[in-house]
Amino acid sequence: MPSYPPAPLHMIDLIRKKRNGGALDAREIGFLVAGAASGSIPPEQLAAWLMAAWLRGLSLDETRSLTLAMRDSGEKFSPARLGKVAVDKHSTGGVGDKTSFLVAPLAAACGLVVPMISGRALGHTGGTLDKLESIPGYRTALSLQEFETVLEKCGASIVSQTPSLVPADRVLYALRDRTGTVECPGLICASILSKKLAAGLDAVVLDVKTGSGAFLRNQEDSEYLAALMVSTTEAAGTRAVALLTDMGEPLGHAAGNWIELVEAVELLRGQRPAQSEDLRELSLILAGWMIHLGNQAATPEAGYARAEAALADGSALRIFFSMITAQGGDISVFDNPAAFHKPGATQVLAAAESGFVSEMDTTYLGWAVQRLGAGREKAGEPVDPHAGIDFHARRGARVEQGEPLATLYATSPALLAEPIEILKDAIVISQTPPDAVPLVNRIFTRETAENYLQDAVR
Ligand code: URA
Repeated sequence: MPSYPPAPLHMIDLIRKKRNGGALDAREIGFLVAGAASGSIPPEQLAAWLMAAWLRGLSLDETRSLTLAMRDSGEKFSPARLGKVAVDKHSTGGVGDKTSFLVAPLAAACGLVVPMISGRALGHTGGTLDKLESIPGYRTALSLQEFETVLEKCGASIVSQTPSLVPADRVLYALRDRTGTVECPGLICASILSKKLAAGLDAVVLDVKTGSGAFLRNQEDSEYLAALMVSTTEAAGTRAVALLTDMGEPLGHAAGNWIELVEAVELLRGQRPAQSEDLRELSLILAGWMIHLGNQAATPEAGYARAEAALADGSALRIFFSMITAQGGDISVFDNPAAFHKPGATQVLAAAESGFVSEMDTTYLGWAVQRLGAGREKAGEPVDPHAGIDFHARRGARVEQGEPLATLYATSPALLAEPIEILKDAIVISQTPPDAVPLVNRIFTRETAENYLQDAVR
């Protein structure tokens, strides 16, 4: 049999195939991703394919091919030269979620290297980069060479994505944002993991949020995404675990930019405010898994114990401060954090009645934080480092009428009114206490993820 060169591919055929419920093979996906990155496929064709993928879903094989093709669409970072196991943590996004500031130095203190490429505020959720940029001088836009230098010196570095890393995601994500095609498990999985895998990780711990403040509120959708991400990461040769964690209330007491860093540093200094216990516990659990998957502890529980020791002996705090200094930040602002905090306006919200805090609609609380000035109305706008909310009562707490529920910090007095009204609706007080919700409600390892996906009908 003579062998013929493969037939040339045409984007219109790939759109039709997906639209009709077919599955694209690795060559077709590679063609699409290369065309997205180079600009040779026009946005209207990419958008049509994205909508077909949203409506029809992506198979496991398509998701894997898409993830790998996107990973390979640009420059990659290789931490191998640093001679340590490289691990990271990724969260699907929440309100008050500042675990990155704890887990990165904790894992580094336990012998790992943590090359963390983070994002900005998205929708109602806060952004790690926006929070770090409240520290005067802190630079998030490092070159890959500078990134490597900070990692070598400190063991952890938290930076923004460079223009050349996963360029296909930049194009596809912007189109998804404008075409209503963000919430598709296969597309979310490929978008998140292509960036993690391009950072050359040996292992990644995925924190998949569930509950009222999560992007995917429904437990089943979160489970499917978690299992899909673990399976896709493992198939790419990187170890992974996913924890489904509660986002039915803000994590810790602070939600904003500067005030979140202050809360994280309090914990790194060994303080234990009661309102931060969930944050401390989740950070130790996530760090424990990072340390275990990075081969520095035989079990996640042993990893937890090592992380707790690094918190107690101050080594994680030293690493966090050395990272900030290496990236140009001025750590003297942590000498007197209250003096640095200068919001344009402050208002305390008091409980309208006595009872138990039974529900917190955390997506709305997140919008309130963003509208105080902590987030953006339009891409590229600056954010206010000092805006945010300090929550004084957690879900389940007994409160008396007139007791403070939250303190709001805004850029200006005019920005207080709407968030105050949001909080009045979003924080529900009832006469009976709510059921307790576990912090971690399910864990997917390679084995449990594969079993779950075999049973899942999608
Ligand atoms: N974060 C990402 O980077 N991509 C998504 O698709 C969703 C969240």
